Amino acid sequence: MDRTSLMTGIEKDWNKFLSLPISEKLPYFERDGRIYDCLFAQQLDRKSLTHIFEIADKLRTMTKKKEGMDFVNSLLSHKKAMLYFVQPSTRTFLSFLNACHILGIKTGEIRDTSTSSELKGETPEDTVRTFSSYVDMIIMRHPTPNFVEKTAWLMNKTNRPVPVINGGSGKDQHPTQAILDVYTLYRSFNSEIENKTIAMVGDLKRGRTVRSLSYLMKNYKNVKLIFISPKEFAMESDILEFLKKHNISYYETDNFEEGISQADAIYMTRIQDEHDKNGESKKVDISSFEFKQKHLDIIKKTAIIMHPLPRRSEIEISVDEDPRAMYWRQERNGMWARAALISIIFGVDHKVAALK
Ligand code: CP
Repeated sequence: MDRTSLMTGIEKDWNKFLSLPISEKLPYFERDGRIYDCLFAQQLDRKSLTHIFEIADKLRTMTKKKEGMDFVNSLLSHKKAMLYFVQPSTRTFLSFLNACHILGIKTGEIRDTSTSSELKGETPEDTVRTFSSYVDMIIMRHPTPNFVEKTAWLMNKTNRPVPVINGGSGKDQHPTQAILDVYTLYRSFNSEIENKTIAMVGDLKRGRTVRSLSYLMKNYKNVKLIFISPKEFAMESDILEFLKKHNISYYETDNFEEGISQADAIYMTRIQDEHDKNGESKKVDISSFEFKQKHLDIIKKTAIIMHPLPRRSEIEISVDEDPRAMYWRQERNGMWARAALISIIFGVDHKVAALK
């Protein structure tokens, strides 16, 4: 089904649109065979990921020199973006902000609904529609499940559609985090992600980063996943079903030391207690799921340690000194991967790729 046929009917009813299988919705979020709204990890295949990584590599190399930076700054200097982040964020917000500035895009921001007309009773739907009167792209993080997708759906019905990028949506997805996570694997393992074993640790039930990363693993052959968590925070069944459907090998365990000792990449996450309804996180002992200095001796010499950040006590500070600690580089990778994605959405990636 293409976008035009979707627009003739079901797209008029949000609840019906939302209930469509994702494969049927994806054409609605593309233009001319390229990604337009970046909402779900399932939009990204192997070819598009490799393209993002190659453009990101090119951008980071080119901008080391002033002439290269000046050229990249000119690519989208006629565009404006709105960063609507009404859930807390440090690195997703800052990396998108700086990615826009690298490409010359001018930015505006709202980071709290108490400073917008939502305080006066304006609906979130009218709020995001207002953005599209002024800017050429909306980058957003929102606590309401599926609201980022609804924004893209709304925009596509207006006479001034603008692309929407999901910077984190409820507990659902964080697709650009997954892009930068795979970019970090790609850079760390000389582009060879096949055959790697990736351990994901912590609150897998409510962590949107591990959900999006699991979806992207379907693009790499013979990857094995180890889900390490207390049983209260085990990975949700929809992701496990997805992995089974795509023949991705995985197992679940609460044995932290045994799991991390087998992994090529150890992806630590924090407890997502902002989603607690009755303080349930406090009832779970997570102390045996923390990466301490002593664990550096039991992991592979070639393993990398990742974390989407922010961290609390999941990784002991002294681990930062170990060359296998990749999380600070990981967050910087996010800026380049996001700049690459934006350049692709606006169709200037070929100008980056063409540069020597
Ligand atoms: N990884 C991540 O989403 O970090 P922030 O919440 O700081 O944006």
